[in-house]
Amino acid sequence: MVAVLNPLSEALARSRVRLERHGEIAAIIIDNPPVNAGSREVRCGLLDAIYMVAAEDAIKAAVLIGAGSTFVAGSDIREFGKPLEEPQLPLVLAAIEACPKPVVAAIHGAALGGGFELALACDARVMLPDAVVGLPEVTLGMIPGAGGTQRTPRLVGVAAAIEIICSGRRIKAAEAVSLGLVDAVIEGDLRTGALAYARALGAASRKRRLSEAALPPEEPERIDQAEREALRAGRGRPQVVKAIEAIKSAAVLPFAEALAREREAFQQLRMSDEAAALRHLFFAEREAAKVAGLEGAVAADITRVGIVGAGTMGTGIAICFADAGYMVTLIEQDAQALQRGMQRLQETYERSVKTGRLDAGLARTCLERIAGSIEFASLADADLVVEAVFEDLAVKTEVFQRLDAILRPGAILASNTSYLDLDRLAAATGRAADVVGLHFFSPAQVMRLLEVVRGAATSAHTLATALAVAKKIRKLAVVARVGEGFIGNRIYAAYRRQCEFMLEEGAYPEQVDAALEQFGFAMGPFAVGDMSGLDIAWRTRLRLAASRDPRERYVEIADRLCEQGRFGQKTGAGWYRYPPGARRGETDPEVRALVEAASQAKGIPRRAFDAAEIQRRALVTMINEAALILQEGIAERAADIDLVLVNGYGFPRHEGGPLFWAGRRSRNELLAELDHIAEVSGPGFRKADIASLLEQQR
Ligand code: NAI
Repeated sequence: MVAVLNPLSEALARSRVRLERHGEIAAIIIDNPPVNAGSREVRCGLLDAIYMVAAEDAIKAAVLIGAGSTFVAGSDIREFGKPLEEPQLPLVLAAIEACPKPVVAAIHGAALGGGFELALACDARVMLPDAVVGLPEVTLGMIPGAGGTQRTPRLVGVAAAIEIICSGRRIKAAEAVSLGLVDAVIEGDLRTGALAYARALGAASRKRRLSEAALPPEEPERIDQAEREALRAGRGRPQVVKAIEAIKSAAVLPFAEALAREREAFQQLRMSDEAAALRHLFFAEREAAKVAGLEGAVAADITRVGIVGAGTMGTGIAICFADAGYMVTLIEQDAQALQRGMQRLQETYERSVKTGRLDAGLARTCLERIAGSIEFASLADADLVVEAVFEDLAVKTEVFQRLDAILRPGAILASNTSYLDLDRLAAATGRAADVVGLHFFSPAQVMRLLEVVRGAATSAHTLATALAVAKKIRKLAVVARVGEGFIGNRIYAAYRRQCEFMLEEGAYPEQVDAALEQFGFAMGPFAVGDMSGLDIAWRTRLRLAASRDPRERYVEIADRLCEQGRFGQKTGAGWYRYPPGARRGETDPEVRALVEAASQAKGIPRRAFDAAEIQRRALVTMINEAALILQEGIAERAADIDLVLVNGYGFPRHEGGPLFWAGRRSRNELLAELDHIAEVSGPGFRKADIASLLEQQR
């Protein structure tokens, strides 16, 4: 029997929370579409509902449940950049704990952040088998601010709480129960199951307040280890440090005092630049999915995928598709190359099992989804083919023509080219509208970024299909138009070139790398060059040498390295020297001599660079190239560029990407730096109108 509780307060009637009665149990239903985000209205409604449950004698217990597709999936992230409105979440949670009747959180969909803190303040938690819980605040530059750091360790211990909160990961039902975060998994109807659970607690009048619970005993070494691992994985960011501090305080401070300290740290962190940068990236990801001109376009169903080229990229791409459940056919030019590719696939899956990314059974299933072949004809029934052969227009054109002849009409033809002109490839086929670029990053099975290249003739249907597939293989798709190097490689090339200019003017490779790593890049440009290999770019330069404008500023140091067979890590030497077994390169006096000789040959006087100048110059070069890319329409919006650099090129996430970073710097300083760059970079350097771009970034 369901009856709406009476009398409803005026506030409750207006709010996003409903109360229903099921005999002696009340159901408090949060109804704030689309994801029941914890807004002010939700908090007001919850307070009223809890007071009513407390006041009504006939009610013995309550169930807290979300309407629609989820529990409270999180707080309204937009609120974090502003003063928070009353009533704030901790007040609501205190009311739940103070309520004399047990409250059971019934979780479907997701209970994340403030949503999970709400569940933690309840007396018990039950969830559906496919629901997830988690505290992702650290990934947004904050820490949980409503008891998450205090209640979690009381359930799972300090070490496990450090891992859960510092990783911000989503936890599935089975693990949540085995850890003790959640009391039971409900098979079948959630509400029915939760009501039964609440009825049992209500009958026993059992309150189970975590604020009153003791922490489980644990070995101090386990805590130390969890702390070390979290700091390493979180690169020592301030929110990670604060989260660990807050969680550990649960063991030594009274609950109320630790809670107050947690709140204070949360309030400080949420207003920080880092949190603003991470929120920017969060919203940028949502925006990236909205692409102009796709209204009404319907994506095709893709089930069979072909991949041509089983090299570094082709095998990684095959894994992406197989992991997502697609049937994959991998094509090579001869049996030997195919054998090597299949071997590489197997080794990669074996590594995944070893590192715990996949269990052995799943790895086998995925591997079995990939069939190797040297016959293009075996792609006849493919819905989508991704080409990942050598980066050579003639080779790719030939492959595209062969595929065009074999594939059924309407099948999609994609290229993983890094630089080549997709429109020329498309024009070589009779299906230009079905051609699209899918530019994966290496290692393809690991990197989340995917540049989806929209050719001049690519149809809305093809693009919509590519985006739908990207989502299924769990990539972050950013749409780019055709242009040398698309978004990321073009900006990165300009940046690297500028770093080489600084070598000629007085800097050394290790100094440039150190300055950019200090800024927060995962690796400096010269260390990256050594890791990826210097030979491919060298061959391209040799090929293009004749057509180069002789007035252009051209740095020859990398050519000298390659002439000596110094191709980077794989040959034991490049910009650095790599003694056997060394993962980091050592400074090499021979390279220093080459660098100095290069300055001398051009008559450039060497001068000292400090880290700040190196950083400014490298970053302003990126911003200039980004502005050109926007002017030319290669990227649709500035935030897309930030996503590409952060997710594909090691730009520090906590700075929010180059354009977000620029928006927070002195405009005049950036403009002056650009003038300087234009002056020293010589003919061929294109200066963009960064002033108006900076204006939009503010
Ligand atoms: P790779 O040299 O490791 O692999 C290319 C494979 O294609 C070789 O196994 C080769 O035997 C095969 N192949 C060549 N011609 C073929 C044909 N006609 N039919 C069938 N197979 C053929 O090269 P990698 O690094 O995998 O690059 C492939 C493509 O991916 C290139 O376009 C490259 O620009 C692009 N790319 C590479 C990235 C990287 O970091 N290596 C990153 C992003 C894109």
